[in-house]
Amino acid sequence: MKWNKMLHGGDYNPEQWLDRPDILAEDIALMKKAGINCMTLGVFSWSMLEPEEGVYRLQWLEDIIDRLYEAGISTILATPTGGLPHWLTKDFPEVMQVREDGGRNLPGKRHNFCYTSKKMRERTKEIDGKLAEMSLRHPGIILWHISNELGGNFADGACHCDECQRAFREWLKRKYGTLQELNKAWWTTFWSRRYTDWEQIHSPTPGGECLVHGLNLDWRRFVTCQMTDFLRWEKAALREYSSLPVTTNFMYFFKPLDYCEMQKEVDVISWDSYPFWHKEKDEVPMAVKAAAYHSMMRSMKKKPFLLMESTPSAVSWRNCNPLKRPGMHMLSSMQAVAYGSNTVQYFQWRKGRGAFEKFHGAVLDHKNGENTRTFREVAEVGLRLAKTQKQIVGSCNRAEIAMIFDWENWWALEDAAGPRLDINYKRVFLKHYRAFWEMGIDVDIVNMDGELKDYRMVIAPLNYLYKKGYADKVERYVESGGVYVTTCFSGIVDENDLCFIGEHPLGKVLGIRSEEIDAPGEEFRNLVDFHGKWYNTGELCEIVHNENGQTLAAYEKEYYAGSPAVIKNEFGRGNAYYLAAEFEQVFYNDFYGGLMEEMGIENPLSAKLPYGVTISERKGERDIIFLQNFRDENMEVETAGRYEETDTGMLWEGKITLGAFECKILQRMEGKVNE
Ligand code: GLA
Ligand code: ZN
Repeated sequence: MKWNKMLHGGDYNPEQWLDRPDILAEDIALMKKAGINCMTLGVFSWSMLEPEEGVYRLQWLEDIIDRLYEAGISTILATPTGGLPHWLTKDFPEVMQVREDGGRNLPGKRHNFCYTSKKMRERTKEIDGKLAEMSLRHPGIILWHISNELGGNFADGACHCDECQRAFREWLKRKYGTLQELNKAWWTTFWSRRYTDWEQIHSPTPGGECLVHGLNLDWRRFVTCQMTDFLRWEKAALREYSSLPVTTNFMYFFKPLDYCEMQKEVDVISWDSYPFWHKEKDEVPMAVKAAAYHSMMRSMKKKPFLLMESTPSAVSWRNCNPLKRPGMHMLSSMQAVAYGSNTVQYFQWRKGRGAFEKFHGAVLDHKNGENTRTFREVAEVGLRLAKTQKQIVGSCNRAEIAMIFDWENWWALEDAAGPRLDINYKRVFLKHYRAFWEMGIDVDIVNMDGELKDYRMVIAPLNYLYKKGYADKVERYVESGGVYVTTCFSGIVDENDLCFIGEHPLGKVLGIRSEEIDAPGEEFRNLVDFHGKWYNTGELCEIVHNENGQTLAAYEKEYYAGSPAVIKNEFGRGNAYYLAAEFEQVFYNDFYGGLMEEMGIENPLSAKLPYGVTISERKGERDIIFLQNFRDENMEVETAGRYEETDTGMLWEGKITLGAFECKILQRMEGKVNE
């Protein structure tokens, strides 16, 4: 999809104000003042678009789309399936989800539909078709926004109704062919769990079967598959009339749905980002998390994505909802752009007067119109996007390093009942990622299916499950010169969650033989000496034998004192590193820092960054460097080059001074500043 501008806008709910034409007129006037060029309409409008089954009222929506268009504002049009109208749930309860306890949800809230239900699909097709047909008359519409945050009903995102159970069994039949194959893959002889009839198979539930890991894993795959099928269904309904691109708004690393699979159905990735800024004085952990999420959204298609929602001030759904401090709105908006977003969109344009989101941050509050700090800060973002869009819009980050984050691994790992029940994939993953954030080096985040040879280094923390063909791919990658880093509790099970027997599937490449894994309690924590510095190990310590490599660090304590904790193995033209333990953060910073030095990879300013400051770079005709300060105080960065601020034209040579929560957008200059 090609847009020649950065989009700035957000969720707009004029249907809540149809009896207030003065407000609707004010909306458009203020949108212009805020530098807004794109609004998302219709996200939860079903009951206003189809007040009774088969009775459609689209005119109000059409009028608003046209009025926005006349004001130079495009529309992202949502399909309304995120919120079910009462007539639908009353007449057809089967459209609502059944929870894992077997009870059907009652009407209400949102994101509460069964993605398999024939009735749900039938009504969806009708309303989506009507919208798509209407869209042909309105050039203001530029993109379809399918449903809303699919799976986001605050439970496990899955429906356990009879229709879904039947679909699950069909899915399993297609996958395994025979029950014999299924029993083998799920290891059902354990605890007498063998299935003798397909009808005996039921989705995992806490009150029933939930300890057969193969079943759990397949159920999660099925849920993604079925939700993706629903997405495809909506897309097909739109495609009957409209060829506009489609997206659906994702959420962070959302465990119930494998976004790497779902993204294949959309033309452009979009997501909703709500970092908990000002949770603590140190903003770095949150900045790291947000950067990782943005990076993953970009890496899925290796293209710019859309920040579909963010709050202009505070959210209203956490226990404590601090306002964004002055400067944070600009910084967090620019952070999204820095990692590849071509939009800054908000939830929400205007606070409603009632119900659950009446206090959720918005560009416009209940009072004060444009005369607020939030409005002014939003308008500043609009201005800045307009000033820099020519340089930014066609550019994208191009990382030389990839980290593997894979949903199937996530599901299996945290289900494993292994050395710890509380293994937290995301937490450990983010420690590795953070080392690069602190250095200001971009990283792509991809799953195991991705092409590895595009990268100089691939990092796979806690890579417990190996998908089919993965070990071979890694072997070829390292053999032909790649650098591969992996950790304890990797290469344990195959794609069916069955343990590998015999050797570690990458034993040769890693140069190790793994024997056992310890989960030491707090008082038994170990430490290692790595290049003359002491580092604490964390929750997992694997005891491995160095078969072929070089031991770079060994455990200091316990009966396994002296056994290797960090091993490097040269394999073919590449190198593999095995981190046998989990470590404290500073170890990762130093370990990857050393590797970057060896490999000659540095951040775009070739600068040593002070704590809290980071860089991300979008490559284009001219590279755009985003220098971000997440500290609430001025910071200095020593560089050796000359840079121009893209939006202000200000020149910097050598030392660059950043204000509190400032993001500078820089381009490299030739020649001397004062020439
Ligand atoms: C989600 C939803 C929005 C809104 C925001 C509030 O992202 O998609 O409709 O509820 O949360 O933060
Ligand atoms: Zn269902």
